[in-house]
Amino acid sequence: MSTHTNGRERNATVLVGAQFGDEGKGKLVDYLSNQYNIVVRYQGGANAGHTICFDDKTVVLHLIPSGIFNPNCVCVIGNGVVIDADALMKEIQTVRELGYSVEGRLFISHNAHLIMPYHKLLDSLSEQTRGERIGTTMRGIGPSYVDKFSRVGIRIVDLLSPDVLEEKLRFNLEHKNNLLTKIYAKDEVNVEELVNHYTAFDRSINDFVKNTQVYLNDELKKGKAVLLEGAQGSLLDVDHGTYPFVTSSNPTAGGACTGSGISPIHIGRVIGVAKAYMTRVGNGAFPTELHDEMGERIRKIGHEFGATTGRPRRCGWLDLALLKYSIAVNGISELALTKLDVLDDFDEIKVCTGYKVKGKIIKDFPTDHKTLSQLEPQYKTLDGWKTSNRNAKTFSELHPNTKRYIEFIEDQLETKITFISVGPRREETVFK
Ligand code: GDP
Ligand code: IMO
Ligand code: MG
Repeated sequence: MSTHTNGRERNATVLVGAQFGDEGKGKLVDYLSNQYNIVVRYQGGANAGHTICFDDKTVVLHLIPSGIFNPNCVCVIGNGVVIDADALMKEIQTVRELGYSVEGRLFISHNAHLIMPYHKLLDSLSEQTRGERIGTTMRGIGPSYVDKFSRVGIRIVDLLSPDVLEEKLRFNLEHKNNLLTKIYAKDEVNVEELVNHYTAFDRSINDFVKNTQVYLNDELKKGKAVLLEGAQGSLLDVDHGTYPFVTSSNPTAGGACTGSGISPIHIGRVIGVAKAYMTRVGNGAFPTELHDEMGERIRKIGHEFGATTGRPRRCGWLDLALLKYSIAVNGISELALTKLDVLDDFDEIKVCTGYKVKGKIIKDFPTDHKTLSQLEPQYKTLDGWKTSNRNAKTFSELHPNTKRYIEFIEDQLETKITFISVGPRREETVFK
């Protein structure tokens, strides 16, 4: 067999949320970014809130990849992302104010779709009028992807041609205003105001626009290393998650290819990020959710409030059956376990190893809403460690019971845990 790689080096790594989002992906991407030349966001939009803590700063990024605070790293917003252009310009400004340059190191795919103010309006109206609410972030994500798949969406590239943009906007607004007035009995969106705003859009955005599919493939050919940063989590995936309580994109590893233009042939590693317990924000099944004082305690210690919306996150025990499913659909080759320090004070820690439905053991993770709501989690109880591991730098420095907890998870999942996060800060990370 020839060993010639023919430009097919497997230099790309995908990092995905293995649960319901907010697993600490931002922290991990920032921590890992010094090992990569390029970090790429491939799906979702400003529904994401990725927190990074370094020096004395805490920053929440929504659209810009979490490698931006590593000056040697180029950041790419891929074609699969839906972009609120106003929110993006504000975020660029925030990064600059923190003293980081974005010139020549932030690129936006010309093919990425835009989120317009009417998408946010329709997001909110669709929530108000459906039976059980999804609990979306109201960032216009679903309606923007609807337009993309209906082939009427407006893309970043259209911002570069004001006449094309105006034509597309007027066409869209006619339809959206019909929907708003006739279906939702609401006021029309002011067409001229919106056309004026977008046709006169801050031209400084032009410098960031690039054919990122070609760029990324050229860089991979040169041997550059690429980290693909997932947003949301695997169980929020529109295909593999707890539908309909999901987001409107594919956070799972497959989405990294379609959302960036990088072929699966280049993916050498898939890192799954999982919290040492579980949280979910918004509605939908959560088999191990704690409705008692214990859930409240986790929320308080873990500061479990949404980084984008500030909503309290629902909390529960770690679910290994769910993680097994997540490992399978993503092809997760290694795990990063985060927020382990949140469990420092617990006498006992429970872990779900499987489910029963109507007295019968279930082997596979169901994704239909009815079965999910009937699951009875089966727990294994482990001893807590009642001490802080915050100063640990190596696995051997962790408390024996912490090591036991980690090894139990690895054994059950048959997957190694290579990163252990014991605090929000960059340096509070143990590499195993
Ligand atoms: P993301 O969306 O996956 O990037 O995660 P979020 O930023 O929404 O939520 C994770 C939260 O946990 C943030 O506030 C982080 O600063 C924080 N965090 C990340 N890792 C750790 C950790 O190991 N310990 C603690 N205590 N906090 C962490
Ligand atoms: P990060 O990247 C957690 C949830 C919402 C809602 C559902 C659909 O920070 O992990 P949407 O606005 O996407 O249509 O909402 O998905 N959701 C998230 N939950 N973390 C996120 O992003 C999320 N992005 C969306 O709460 O249940
Ligand atoms: Mg988040």
